[in-house]
Parts: sequence; structure tokens; C-alpha cells
Amino acid sequence: MSGSMRSAALRAGYRALIRPVLFRSYGADPERIHEAMINLLAQVASSPVARGVDWLVGRANDPVTVAGVRFAGRVGVAAGLDKDGRAAMMWSHLGFGFAELGTVTAEAQPGNPSPRLFRARRSSGLINRMGFNNDGASALASRLAGWGVRRGNGAAGIPLGVSIGKTKLTPIEQAVPDYVRSLETVHGQADYVAVNVSSPNTPGLRTLQRAATIEELLAALVARARELDETPIPVFVKIAPDVSWDELDQLLAAVVGAGAAGVIATNTTLGRTGLVGADRLLASQPGGLSGAPLTRRARQVVARTVDQGLPVIASGGIMTPGDAMAMLDLGAVAVQVYTGFIYSGPGLVAGINHWSRDKTGRS
Ligand SMILES: Cc1cc2nc3c(=O)[nH]c(=O)nc-3n(C[C@H](O)[C@H](O)[C@H](O)COP(=O)(O)O)c2cc1C
Repeated sequence: MSGSMRSAALRAGYRALIRPVLFRSYGADPERIHEAMINLLAQVASSPVARGVDWLVGRANDPVTVAGVRFAGRVGVAAGLDKDGRAAMMWSHLGFGFAELGTVTAEAQPGNPSPRLFRARRSSGLINRMGFNNDGASALASRLAGWGVRRGNGAAGIPLGVSIGKTKLTPIEQAVPDYVRSLETVHGQADYVAVNVSSPNTPGLRTLQRAATIEELLAALVARARELDETPIPVFVKIAPDVSWDELDQLLAAVVGAGAAGVIATNTTLGRTGLVGADRLLASQPGGLSGAPLTRRARQVVARTVDQGLPVIASGGIMTPGDAMAMLDLGAVAVQVYTGFIYSGPGLVAGINHWSRDKTGRS
């Protein structure tokens, strides 16, 4: 079977056979289902089944170097999917070329009260207000170290980035030392850090995207990274889609000025366009919207961001291999998926790998 047929069959099989059962399990509670799947992947990673998954899905084989880090392929795990890195050793088996773990914070925290994750199924979207529930940066660093993961050693089969965010209880004026602490904690294990200033679910976090503030924050992190290692860990920043062009231009100028290595665009949106049918009832749920309703806006932001010359990793509404190709055609160096993976499974990853290899002439 050709690569494109195999990935299409995988996607169709997931949607027809696995997804209906999965979405109804655990009382149809999206968060419990997610937890169960992460636990399952964590267990499978250390079993012979992982090699069977390799065979079925196909590992990434389209290397691209981004800010000095060699990704095995163009499609990565988006932040939030594996917040505590419990499935970190499994992502390479599912065809991913890199994975961004986290967001973790300097202190462990419970996140917002449940329910905090909602499926907008007709619209192929999700609304979440998780609020950085995580075990803390040091738990993640220890877990990875326990598996022998050190920066650059490829122990997970693919590079692992770590997304860092502000601890909720830390006042916004103390954000810089809080982020610096997380960077210090994970720099030995992570291949890059992504500075998350764009989650809509931590009060005040997005104010850090203001040009002067982001420049101070990123400059402090870049400076600390240089002190810590001879080859400093690359510092990426993840931005929101809900910014005006003026704000975006100023933000990007500050990101370049601070010496950041690249941009991840975009996080979830506070907008509610694109919700259809019964999903419109979810519009009043506070939180960030992801998936198909975000595709158009994320593309617009990526198109403007690539003009700055920094490497751009595209995230937002990548639901099909065609959506990923559109981002790569705009000039993104790689893409990340979250909601598309929930709706289409590993076939989406295989499909993106197939088409991106084709495009770069390595098929
Ligand atoms: C349930 C959920 C949790 C998320 N948690 C994080 C997070 O902790 N850190 C982060 O940077 N982005 C987080 N995101 C945003 C995703 O990484 C991604 O940028 C966004 O969902 C858009 O991509 P998508 O349309 O492929 O989902 C989360 C998204 C969802 C749906």
C-alpha cells in the first residue's frame, strides 16, 4: 500500500472504528478519556507493542534543523497534549518528528476546576480552560532524566521541547524569575524551551505579550540560557492569535530584539467564530477554542510572522495533511497538532509525513 493510501486508511479507520468508542468511553468525559489515553501510551512505550505501532504508522523520516535542533520530521506534538511528559517515550513511535511537553510551571498546580475541556464535535473543535494543571517543572525534568533523556542525546527518538508558563500564584510582576526558574529546571533535559505567554487560561498571562514586557522576559531567559550551557538551549515563544497586526508587529520586533530562536504561532483563540450547529451553545464557555474554527486565523498570523525571518512552527487548526502543507507553503518550518490528532488520530501524522516528504523530494 502506498504511503498516502496507508495514512488515509488509518485516518478513516480511526474515525469509523476507534473514535466513536473512544469518545463515548469514561462517561464521555473528554478529560478522563485524555488521561486514560496518555496512561495507555505511557505503558505501551516500554512494551514490544511500540514497535508494532512503528510499523503501522511509520516513523518520521524527513529531518529538518530548526534553531540548531534536528527534528526527525515536520509534525510535532503541540503543548498541552502531554503536559507532564508521561508519554514522552511514545511520540516518536506515532510518527511525530518532535514533541513539545508541558506547559509546566515552576510550582506544581491543580489548574482550574472541572469540567474544563469541552468537545465541539460538529465544528471539529475543542474549548479548554485547563489552566496549566501540571506536576511542576522539576517532576518533568526528573521523569525525563529517569528515562535517560538529556538535551541532545535523542533518547526519546525525537527532540523534546518543554513549554514553560507562569505559576498561577506568582504575581505577574514576578513573572521573569518564575519563568527563569523553570528554564533552569528543564534545560538539562529539554532540546528547546517554548515560553508560553499566550494561554488564555491564566489570568493576566497574555499581558506579557506586550512588546516591552516580552522583550524583558525573553532577554532574561536568553541571558540565563547562555550562562547555563556552552551551547545555550534555544528559546522559542508561543503567541496568541488574538492580536491586532500592530500588536503582532511590535511583539515580533521585541522577540527578534531579545534574541529568541523562533516563534510558535498560534495558541488557542478567545474568538468563537466557526462554531456550528449545537456547538454554538458552547460559545459562552470560558476558555480557548482550537481545531477547525482556528484554521483560518492561525494561517493569517503565520503568514505575517514568517516575514520576520525567525523560524516559525505553525500550530492551530491543522486538521488535515492539506492544512499542514498550507502552513509549510506559507513558510513555516514545521507544524504541531493537538485537536486534529484527537479527531483523526495517528493517520493525520502519517499523512503529514507522507506529503511533506513528497514536497521535500525524499519520498
Ligand atoms: C486541552 C488543551 C490543552 C492545551 N494546553 C496547552 C498548554 O499547556 N500549553 C500551550 O502552549 N498550549 C496548549 N494548548 C494549545 C495547543 O498547543 C495548540 O496550540 C492549540 O490547541 C491550537 O492547535 P490545534 O488547533 O491543533 O489544537 C492546549 C490545547 C488544548 C486543546
